[in-house]
Amino acid sequence: MIERNIKKLWEPLFDPVSVRPGMIIRQFEDSDTEEYFALVKKNRPYLREHLTWLDQETLEQAKDFIRSTILGFRARKKLICGIFKNGKLIGTIGFREFDTMNNLAAVGYWLDCEYQGDGIMTDCVRKLFDYGFDHFGLNRIELCCDTSNIASQTIAQKLGMVYEGTQRSAVWFYDHYKSIHGYSILKNEWNPRSDAP
Ligand SMILES: CC(C)(COP(=O)(O)OP(=O)(O)OC[C@H]1O[C@@H](n2cnc3c(N)ncnc32)[C@H](O)[C@@H]1OP(=O)(O)O)[C@@H](O)C(=O)NCCC(=O)NCCS
Repeated sequence: MIERNIKKLWEPLFDPVSVRPGMIIRQFEDSDTEEYFALVKKNRPYLREHLTWLDQETLEQAKDFIRSTILGFRARKKLICGIFKNGKLIGTIGFREFDTMNNLAAVGYWLDCEYQGDGIMTDCVRKLFDYGFDHFGLNRIELCCDTSNIASQTIAQKLGMVYEGTQRSAVWFYDHYKSIHGYSILKNEWNPRSDAP
């Protein structure tokens, strides 16, 4: 008999998670708004290639976003965090929407272009998966990326996710549609790394 994976625990706060020495994932606070706004502004052209929300350009929209992460977690709908290196915001990562009926969630993330190519996001996603399966009792985690996003496809593959197919012309990117690759991993397929900090 398959035992349904019951959500074990939901703390009102998500304690900061250490990813590497000096690097943590933590929930946003209202006081992060200006730093978040500046980081998005710096990375806007590069992020537009693979993310769809870059038309949001005002400080007020950044403020609303940070607020929505705080309220969204309290409502048990999502967990969106900042990635901080020595106290400096360098990216975001999180579960965009928890489906608590089916114990599944989709991961989303982006990183300051200066920090790309050093395995940072693979380490962050690994930590988030550990947390998702263990703390939130998830049974399935999904990752979707457009078909030109080789870095995200590589991350999915490095973490042992299973490619499940491609949704043709599924998402509107400012002036054209893109097709989306879907990956997933199940709790019973996940191997947490014991050597991670
Ligand atoms: C996607 C993103 C988070 C990757 O972050 P990162 O820290 O550089 O990722 P990692 O270094 O952990 O892993 C990326 C892997 O892809 C590989 N890669 C990246 N671009 C590649 C390319 N064009 N061709 C082949 N491999 C590529 C890297 O070599 C690395 O693999 P390796 O560790 O085996 O060398 C970052 O590029 C980003 O923020 N992009 C824009 C926003 C985005 O795409 N968000 C995700 C939407 S689904």
